[in-house]
Amino acid sequence: MAAEILDGKGISKQIQAETKTKVAEFVSSHQTTPCLAAVLVGEDPASQVYVRNKERACKRVGINSQLHRIDASCSTTELLELVNQLNQDPSVNGILVQLPLPDQIDSRRVLDAIDPAKDVDAFHPHNVGLISQGRPRFLPCTPHGIVQMLKRCGVTTTGKHVCVIGRSDIVGKPMAMMLAQKDSELGPEMANATVTLCHSRTANLTEITKQADILIAAIGRPKFVTADMIKPGATVVDVGINRTDDGLVGDVDYEAGMHVAGHLTPVPGGVGPLTVTMLLENTLMAAKLQV
Ligand code: GUN
Repeated sequence: MAAEILDGKGISKQIQAETKTKVAEFVSSHQTTPCLAAVLVGEDPASQVYVRNKERACKRVGINSQLHRIDASCSTTELLELVNQLNQDPSVNGILVQLPLPDQIDSRRVLDAIDPAKDVDAFHPHNVGLISQGRPRFLPCTPHGIVQMLKRCGVTTTGKHVCVIGRSDIVGKPMAMMLAQKDSELGPEMANATVTLCHSRTANLTEITKQADILIAAIGRPKFVTADMIKPGATVVDVGINRTDDGLVGDVDYEAGMHVAGHLTPVPGGVGPLTVTMLLENTLMAAKLQV
């Protein structure tokens, strides 16, 4: 039987409608509109698309947005000056520095300089620490979007074996950390997983992935997950967005996955839209924390 396709785009629309209502309530009770400041360094085409999508999504739900463009040749010091200025600006609630940054920039220093109360990506060590202790201030956008999608599609995680492929700070590590907790924003049924975090040096990868009830591919390699790596009936979440000669391709071989998985997310239209949507939720949360 063919896998059920998880409609990230449709779920995003549903969540954004809920966010829009919550933003309107916030504006009417506090007479101030949440505002997200995005920092875009250079002209990377993918980053430009992401930032444009974020600005459009803000507009849809009634959140103000600012775009700060900086030349690709800028220095770490210049970027730090901008971050400090945004930290001190009371009209800015959330700050997002679009990654990747050019090679000459010390990305760690820039991300660490963002005020943790405005860190809507949840990349600051303070926020990462809170997540690891199970008391998050902000949840990282992609992992949070994945949990929202699973919940809304009726897939719970408690007691399940979740295998995450990829140990990035943006997706793999926080995803593993969140699902292993005792509880979550969406209830204990969306936590309490037995998590295996696999990566490029994992031995016998297929043996491990084949045991997973939920397989989350976030390794950044086109069609890396093949049919033989998937347990029949498993839920397969594809976080990859790889630009190839054949267009946008996920980390999962979609055609093959279709015949083995129970649920499968498409690329595009799966996890991507949810990342943007959860950023809006975090910006509203930041505004609430700052009143
Ligand atoms: N580049 C790719 N994904 C992300 C993300 O979630 N946040 C930021 N700031 N940059 C990214």
